[in-house]
Amino acid sequence: MATTTSVSNISVAMSRPRVTSSQKLGSVILGGRVKVGSCDKLGSVCHVASVKPFQQVSPSCNVKFDKFVTKAVSESSSNNQVAGLPIDLRGKRAFIAGVADDNGYGWAIAKSLAQAGAEILVGTWVPALNIFESSLRRGKFDESRKLQDGSLFEIAKVYPLDAVYDTPEDVPEDVKANKRYAGAKNWTVKEVVESVKNDFGTIDILVHSLANGPEVSKLLSETSRKGYLAALSASSYSYISLLKHFLPIINPGGASLSLTYIASERIIPGYGGGMSSAKAALESDTRVLAFEAGRKKRIRVNTISAGPLGSRAAKAIGFIDTMIDYSYTNAPIQKELNAEEVGNTAAFLASPLASAITGAVIYVDNGLNAMGVGVDSPVFKDLNIPKQEH
Ligand SMILES: NC(=O)c1ccc[n+]([C@@H]2O[C@H](COP(=O)([O-])OP(=O)(O)OC[C@H]3O[C@@H](n4cnc5c(N)ncnc54)[C@H](O)[C@@H]3O)[C@@H](O)[C@H]2O)c1
Repeated sequence: MATTTSVSNISVAMSRPRVTSSQKLGSVILGGRVKVGSCDKLGSVCHVASVKPFQQVSPSCNVKFDKFVTKAVSESSSNNQVAGLPIDLRGKRAFIAGVADDNGYGWAIAKSLAQAGAEILVGTWVPALNIFESSLRRGKFDESRKLQDGSLFEIAKVYPLDAVYDTPEDVPEDVKANKRYAGAKNWTVKEVVESVKNDFGTIDILVHSLANGPEVSKLLSETSRKGYLAALSASSYSYISLLKHFLPIINPGGASLSLTYIASERIIPGYGGGMSSAKAALESDTRVLAFEAGRKKRIRVNTISAGPLGSRAAKAIGFIDTMIDYSYTNAPIQKELNAEEVGNTAAFLASPLASAITGAVIYVDNGLNAMGVGVDSPVFKDLNIPKQEH
């Protein structure tokens, strides 16, 4: 028995058998119809029921959540469709601010949104623009541009952006004269939005995936006023500015997202210079902006609190490998976090499937946020801590 409801442009089919929570962990559907696997239990045999293109399934149901593997499935095997819950962003256009290589969360989000069918525009920090564009042109990112059907995802346009400046009048002389900015034009927030409007008219999805804190390696108590305000300007106000300027051209019912970190609400030594404060501001702003953008244009505003990833920005902070190890050792789910998992969550949040989710902080961190203690502490050595079954 299957019932089908239509939510906006998405068809939601509900039928038996139900997908269990363990199956859901291993199957994220990105487009097309769904393949429903049935696992006897965690760690045992997996039976596959029905298929259609693009889906993500765990490599096997020997539930080893090391890495999700994406699998393209042929059209012809779609006869036994059981259930469908696709993330379908076809016809939607996304602007992702904060993409300058293929290692970070911005890239992973762009790729997942593209996989779901969205058209992708990106905003790239001006000093990183040349190298990003030339790497794209030279095919350096081709491997990570590959979608599930083997095609390469396209970025419709790369916009130079410095989200610290709202208008050309805000740009100081030394920045104007800086050779890293020479040659690039119209890169303040207001100008970027005007260019997007001229080129494409409107967007549906806005993603803020950028942060900068010049004194990040300093203790908060040793941070200068200038450094603190710079962290908030680049990492928090930049989001308000982007949303403020984009709001008139985001289609009603659209979605906006940012990236935050648990240091906003728990003490993470080493994440200094006001960066923890900037993330706290970003999360608070997410709630207020959700109200304002929701009331004005039914636009949803959420933030993803992501676990540690060895991106360029994170490497610059200097202790990312330690944080990755710490998470692996202490989180409820013991595996390395894959940027794609954040990308897929972003695609879900941007889609009508998340139509009632706004003003939320969504954790994508293998559950580390839920821990009250680090279980690798020697004080727990005699405690009965469940071991991962292989
Ligand atoms: N990597 C992690 O462990 C982690 C964890 C939680 C949250 N986050 C957040 O994810 C987001 C993306 O960071 P990432 O770690 O993927 O690194 P990243 O290096 O891929 O992304 C940061 C981007 O910000 C851009 N940027 C910096 N200043 C800018 C400015 N003034 N204007 C425009 N762009 C600017 C950089 O060029 C870079 O592309 C950030 O908000 C970060 O705080 C990262």
